[in-house]
Amino acid sequence: MASIDLQSLLRHRLLMVGGKGGVGKTSIAASLALIAAKRGRRTLLVSTDPAHNLSDIFQVPLGPDSKTIAHNLDAVELSPERELDEYLESIRKQMLPHVAVGMRPALERQLQSTRHSPGAEEAALLERITYLMDQREEYDLLIFDTAPTGHTLRLLSLPQTMAAWSAGLLAQKQRSKGLASLLAHLDPGRDINNPLAEPEKRQPGASNSPVLAPMEAREQRFRRAAKCLTDTTESTFLFVMTPERLPLLETGRAVKALSEKGVSIAGVLCNRVLPPQAETVGFLKAVLHQQRTVLAESERVFKKIPQGQLALMENAVAGREGVELFAKELEQVLDGALKQSVEAGRSSADAAG
Ligand SMILES: Nc1ncnc2c1ncn2[C@@H]1O[C@H](COP(=O)(O)OP(=O)(O)OP(=O)(O)O)[C@@H](O)[C@H]1O
Ligand SMILES: [Mg+2]
Repeated sequence: MASIDLQSLLRHRLLMVGGKGGVGKTSIAASLALIAAKRGRRTLLVSTDPAHNLSDIFQVPLGPDSKTIAHNLDAVELSPERELDEYLESIRKQMLPHVAVGMRPALERQLQSTRHSPGAEEAALLERITYLMDQREEYDLLIFDTAPTGHTLRLLSLPQTMAAWSAGLLAQKQRSKGLASLLAHLDPGRDINNPLAEPEKRQPGASNSPVLAPMEAREQRFRRAAKCLTDTTESTFLFVMTPERLPLLETGRAVKALSEKGVSIAGVLCNRVLPPQAETVGFLKAVLHQQRTVLAESERVFKKIPQGQLALMENAVAGREGVELFAKELEQVLDGALKQSVEAGRSSADAAG
């Protein structure tokens, strides 16, 4: 079983930290962000969870505008609801000047129905994420403290769903006829049911349409994001789980789904592992044995994926100092594992020599 290599983990441009609810994603994403920043990587830590995880852990208010929380480290906390408001407002602003006064109520109705359509918040969130991913000048590394796995998987439904989402907001089945004819009028010849069809045959901005040009720019941005997510040198996914049956099963499913989409998996990190002393403490002994069974199963299930273990700490991970402490532990575990494997390599080389 290979160990997770911290250096190469942080060498990526995009690191997604995923896993079931409550397994330690935020603690680990925040710690990795601190480590990366200390090692000179200009890092942006992003949370897409409305539960204000990052604000809580760093005990500083964070919001949709990035805020510097340490040298080389900025953080941003996105709210899906707010992102949707902003997204719809930007579409409204784009379209309004081109819509005849009589058509404006249809546009407003369309935007309202979009607001309540399934997946709209995620689409808006994704919109923002693709912008963040485009900020290549400002940051070397983006770390996503992602929402629980199911949500993440939908976010990563590459790239067709992404394009469909971006197109879908303006081309839903239930859209008003008025708006459809408006779009058709603005860009004659374009298939209104599939405005993003055959993109490879078009140059960016080729439509010259004031309404469709921003859609095309969006589509290009989504395609860049999808390309980056599936480029294994740029992006990788770190799974966090606890040594319990359900997290193991869920992680297995998520790893499979992501691998099938060509996303690189940097490793599975097992968190909250009981120390061996638990053997001597009453009911903890049984828990320890259950954990060991799951850990052995995890090694078997993820045999091709680097793995690591992080012990259960005495204290919850809270405040800057708490994150620093946790980060030290994590650094030791991951760097220590690397050293061990280097040493093991050396001694076997020595033995062979
Ligand atoms: N190794 C550990 N030892 C002790 N406490 C831990 C450890 N890892 C995480 N915790 C604590 O467990 C709780 C959950 O951790 P965290 O918030 O990082 O999980 P999460 O996966 O981000 O949860 P959510 O899915 O709700 O966002 C926190 O109180 C955190 O301080
Ligand atoms: Mg969290």
